[in-house]
Amino acid sequence: ADRAAFIAALPKAELHLHIEGSLEPELMFELARRNGIAIPFATIDDVRAAYAFSNLQDFLDIYYQGMGVLQTEQDFYDLTAAYLARAHADGVRHAEIFFDPQGHTARGIPFATVIGGITRALDDAQAQYDMSSRLIMCFLRHLSEAEAEATLDEARPWLDRIDGVGLDSSEVGHPPAKFQRVFARARDLGLRLVAHAGEEGPPEYVHEALDLLGVDRIDHGNRSLEDEALVARLADDAMCLTVCPLSNLKLCVVDDMTAHPLKTMLDAGLLATVNSDDPSYFGGYVNANYTAVADALDLSRDELVTLARNSFLGAFLDDDAKARHL
Ligand code: ADE
Ligand code: ZN
Repeated sequence: ADRAAFIAALPKAELHLHIEGSLEPELMFELARRNGIAIPFATIDDVRAAYAFSNLQDFLDIYYQGMGVLQTEQDFYDLTAAYLARAHADGVRHAEIFFDPQGHTARGIPFATVIGGITRALDDAQAQYDMSSRLIMCFLRHLSEAEAEATLDEARPWLDRIDGVGLDSSEVGHPPAKFQRVFARARDLGLRLVAHAGEEGPPEYVHEALDLLGVDRIDHGNRSLEDEALVARLADDAMCLTVCPLSNLKLCVVDDMTAHPLKTMLDAGLLATVNSDDPSYFGGYVNANYTAVADALDLSRDELVTLARNSFLGAFLDDDAKARHL
């Protein structure tokens, strides 16, 4: 309880959060009703019971189904505003938010509807909570690079509101190398670059994200620890890893929270951070992630402070803004 209070009081940044993964079952039901969409659940308890995953793909199937209730600009606003209010309550002062436009445009929802609702909520959080944010557009790696390129083209009118691109969805079989050209284009457009790597995929995918995509951060990165030379390189480059403890537990990336690699990462000098990934699906927002992993690994107050500091160091903020948070 003492530790939880200490964590709650730490100012922090969240750097790995899929906005569609913050859709709580209550809002899913409300939007289904509002939009006249059938969902395969009778009660909130049915929904929660369906959230038992044995790997990433199990989760992704339910996640893409869940986002089907999102139809209007107001729906995307309500989703994003609910996350930002919840993050603010957890002491999050800066949030870098992923969205999956291809999960929506493939259902006939216009890109403008998605980004219009999300950015309106981001602007309101800046005004209401003094909370800053960045928006990162992810490409779905199970789709083709040509489809990612078309998504980048669709985003062109919105690039003043998009800070970076990312790579998510089914990792194994879809290595970073598949997206080399679209990431090079995104870089030429001045965007920041991140990629999920080493969540289920091998250390080689982390190497590819660094060497072939030129990413500024690695999302997850757990399996980097299998490669000693890679660990040394990540530490030397102060490469931020956006680690997600409850996600790792729910997707069976770790068997038990006491087996989580976070402490090993800190001991190796890696710039590791704690994040919630898809909080409504994995059972907790950012403070719950800090608490679960700190309890399991018996992290010290110094280590918790380091994790919170790392979140600002790894953020896409300018040096003045970082200095204000540190
Ligand atoms: N999409 C949403 N959450 C994800 C995760 N943890 N890994 C890959 N793709 C995702
Ligand atoms: Zn993720």
